Amino acid sequence: MVARENSKLAIVGAGSVGTSIAYAALIRGSARHIALYDINEEKVNAEVLDLAHGSQFTGTADIEGGADLTVIEGAHIVVITAGAKQKPGQTRIDLAAANVEMLRSLMPQLMEHAPNAIYILVTNPCDVLTVAAQQISGLPAQRVFSSGTVLDTSRLRWLLAKRVGVSRQSVHAHIIGEHGDTEFPLWSNASIGLTPITDWGEPGERFTINELDRIAAEVRNAAYRVIEGKGATNYAIGLAAARIIEAILDDEHAVLPVSTVLTDFKGVSGVALSVPCIVSGSGAAPVASTPFSDAELAQFRASAEALRATQNSLGL
Ligand code: 2OP
Repeated sequence: MVARENSKLAIVGAGSVGTSIAYAALIRGSARHIALYDINEEKVNAEVLDLAHGSQFTGTADIEGGADLTVIEGAHIVVITAGAKQKPGQTRIDLAAANVEMLRSLMPQLMEHAPNAIYILVTNPCDVLTVAAQQISGLPAQRVFSSGTVLDTSRLRWLLAKRVGVSRQSVHAHIIGEHGDTEFPLWSNASIGLTPITDWGEPGERFTINELDRIAAEVRNAAYRVIEGKGATNYAIGLAAARIIEAILDDEHAVLPVSTVLTDFKGVSGVALSVPCIVSGSGAAPVASTPFSDAELAQFRASAEALRATQNSLGL
């Protein structure tokens, strides 16, 4: 375990997601040293310069980088953003074969330079890639996980907070399952302050099941909408990843919905799915006691089966 003031964060991939994570981490002071790596030397050097030029206006965090993997040497956290990205009309799962192939050669090289790091998969489909990274590296499940539905959960809380006019921090609700088309909200546990979500507000203004379904669909489709409009999502995932990094480096034991390879979580094993996890300096550990309704349990298992089918087709 390392204190944040001595920490090194490595980000693999200097595209819009990798650089947004670097930008968010610099501004928030999420780690002391940030290293950005990409195979495209001209691009990574330019991104590092652009970020470093603004560092007078951030805290003590510094940034370096390049196209040689030695830049990640000794990192405490490695965030992987490299790989093919979603184009308008594509699902995250459409990227699976290409990005698993990329991981087969990348992961062993990363492990050589940062053998003791905690690995965070951000590249999509992040759940499938978490399984691949865990199998390739042989790391314990706790030390290789994905940003999962931390971002989707933030999207959900933003929508709910706007609807009822309270702070986003006072909305307690989680999206779990696949970071993708089979994800769903754990409505049975959702509350605003201490009030169960369906009891909030005056009669006549309360959430109906139809409205909750619409909100869940809006969250599920959020990335498609952003990708249609600007070609990628980057700022929100940058902030979500920075938040996860801080929970690790500050050994927070924060409950966040990240995705680890599960072992008998509600009967699901061998698939990585987001569930509320304790995120600390040791990595991520699922909270086994998380209560699910029967319907949510069925949705969770369906999400697991959808991912298992993709994994099987890739030989994972
Ligand atoms: C997102 O949800 C595309 O996975 C990315 O923003």
